[in-house]
Amino acid sequence: MFGVEYTVIPSEVEGSRRATGCLNSKKTISFRRAISIWFHKNKRDLPWRGTRDPYAILVSEIMLQQTQVTTVIPYYNRWLRCFPTLRSLAAATESEVLHAWQGLGYYTRARNLHRCAKTIVEKSGGKFPSGPDKLKSLPGIGRYTANAVGVFAFDQSLPLVEANTARVLSRLFNIRAPIDSTSGRRKLWEGSAKLVPAKGARDFQNAMMDLGALVCTARSPRCQICPVKKFCRACDPVSLPRKRKPAGIVPLIEAHGLCTTAGAVLLEQCRQRWRGMWMLPPLKLDGLKPSSLRRPVYVSAFPFTHHRVTLRVFRQPAREIDTSSQRWFLTNALDAIPIPSPHRRALTALLA
Ligand code: ADE
Repeated sequence: MFGVEYTVIPSEVEGSRRATGCLNSKKTISFRRAISIWFHKNKRDLPWRGTRDPYAILVSEIMLQQTQVTTVIPYYNRWLRCFPTLRSLAAATESEVLHAWQGLGYYTRARNLHRCAKTIVEKSGGKFPSGPDKLKSLPGIGRYTANAVGVFAFDQSLPLVEANTARVLSRLFNIRAPIDSTSGRRKLWEGSAKLVPAKGARDFQNAMMDLGALVCTARSPRCQICPVKKFCRACDPVSLPRKRKPAGIVPLIEAHGLCTTAGAVLLEQCRQRWRGMWMLPPLKLDGLKPSSLRRPVYVSAFPFTHHRVTLRVFRQPAREIDTSSQRWFLTNALDAIPIPSPHRRALTALLA
């Protein structure tokens, strides 16, 4: 059961307690008790819950930032087999890191994780910072990730707002401001700070996430079986949380060349979107006869941030290559290099 006495109160939580003055209320304590009883019967068995290693927890949280739990699990397990410690990650090459991340997308996350490991090894001799403020100064670590490491590795009493907890909190407190607006975000973080107990924050925050994933779901919340429904102030739970109108999806067409010779394929190292990874060379349309572009040998579409990218691949004759960024790779050695998923799918289909 989560404790009700407050011993360690980080300044972030303390501020909110003073501001709201409602953390000692009976309701908060019975909310914690109700969700705790439910959690102990219903908790998910997730691999990162079996560790207190802040490095492993950081890996899980960075992977979970834009990716579903079920997708993350095999990547998390594989990652820790490849890079079991912060030092092993710091010593890896960028290519090894991108290869292990391949398929998860949003590769900036992998690059930042790599930079974090190098920074901690170089500046603190590999000693993981235990306070969220120090963690926040590392590349790619914001308030959520820093607090999540504090909560899950060190059981610190800190608020957490991510997709699941945001949904639970917005319904519980009937927050109608868009959760991606300044005022919506502020209300969520304040709400979380009000609820988190001083002792047992790890179980409490896991319980909030599991409630969001299993009961307080986005499209069909299971309010009939909700262990904390008597505390919920949502008038229309399905309508919450609200979000600002999303920016429109912008279509993009990208043309790339398939150039092969005797069991090898020409690839180019990306400098921008997938920096460091290998892709089919982008087509330079100047100097090409329009007729040769008429029929692509492969077409697919994939989302990228606010774009829908159509990838068109055209067969190209072998010609002089740009040795500064292009290389021939044996087609049976492609598994060993990092290739972004849309290009790997194209290569798999075209080289079959
Ligand atoms: N989403 C983000 N962090 C999570 C965690 N630690 N467990 C489950 N889902 C999460």
